[in-house]
Amino acid sequence: MDLAALEKQLRTLQADAATRISAAASTAELDELGSSLLGKRGAITEILRGIGALPADDRPKIGVVANEVRAALDASVSARRVALSAGELLERIERERVDATTPGPAPRIGSLHPIPETIAAITEIMSSFGFVVAEGQEIEDDVTNFQLLNIPEDHPSRDLWDTLYLQEPGRLLRTHTSPGQIRTMQAGGPPIRVILPGRCFRYEAVDASHGFEFHQVEGLLVDRSATLADLKGILDELAKGLFGSAARTRFRPGYYPFTEPSVAVDVSWPGSKDGWMTILGAGMVHPVVLENGGIDPETHQGFAFGLGVERIAMLRHGIPDLRAFLENDLRFLAGFR
Ligand code: DAH
Repeated sequence: MDLAALEKQLRTLQADAATRISAAASTAELDELGSSLLGKRGAITEILRGIGALPADDRPKIGVVANEVRAALDASVSARRVALSAGELLERIERERVDATTPGPAPRIGSLHPIPETIAAITEIMSSFGFVVAEGQEIEDDVTNFQLLNIPEDHPSRDLWDTLYLQEPGRLLRTHTSPGQIRTMQAGGPPIRVILPGRCFRYEAVDASHGFEFHQVEGLLVDRSATLADLKGILDELAKGLFGSAARTRFRPGYYPFTEPSVAVDVSWPGSKDGWMTILGAGMVHPVVLENGGIDPETHQGFAFGLGVERIAMLRHGIPDLRAFLENDLRFLAGFR
């Protein structure tokens, strides 16, 4: 083996490898080719094994040629890699393409349950008259639910509220939102303009118009002067807001121990099927109740009202049976979007 023969081998390898490199079809194939040519046990190294047979003077010369061939092949491999990986990237982008404009599964849009929806409507109207929202408590005591509201322990009017008592003596589930009046008065003095929405409970047989749990919104205004006419004006606006601008209200005499005088309030609107319908009780706050709330009835007076949310929701939406409010049947609830 002489210098010329070794050099020829290297040049042949170079020419041959250049063709194979440019023919490599993938980066994986190129990698393999690259190490079979240039690697530790690659073709160039193989050829250079013959170097030992050369005269010492020729060895560096063949080293120069080998480095040149190595550098040239290395450059072609790199160039080919750039070309192949650009193509492979495009191909991968194409393969993994996601059409972001394809419509996804439609979301199920929820809606407010008609009870909170009705409470929200009442709140919005009343807040335009400066009433703020407060909450009473669902577990009450006999004193606040009854006695401070001027309903003595063995007064026959107690029968108006069929009460669910708790085991703890004197504790009960509130039968109406009216005890919130006492708590509001005790918590801060007049002027007071508050509405108290919430859940109430009565020991009652359930039918289409009675539930053992139901909702009321209590209203209370206490100031230096507040009249039955103010009450009528505000309730008129409330009725118009809930049942349309042609709705009208009327007062009938009523009885509640915590108001004097007391009224039952009826509403009617064009197209209402049943004529006048009673939607709430109201009246001027009884002086004893003001006193129980820590307010001097000589200097202040007020009015209060309590309305049944279920009844109003039923009238607004033409719902015939209030049990539907408790059943959580999505087919029913989806009707209130
Ligand atoms: N608390 C009464 C009830 O549950 C409703 C009521 C009537 C509330 C007259 C009032 C009122 O504030 O003035 O039947």
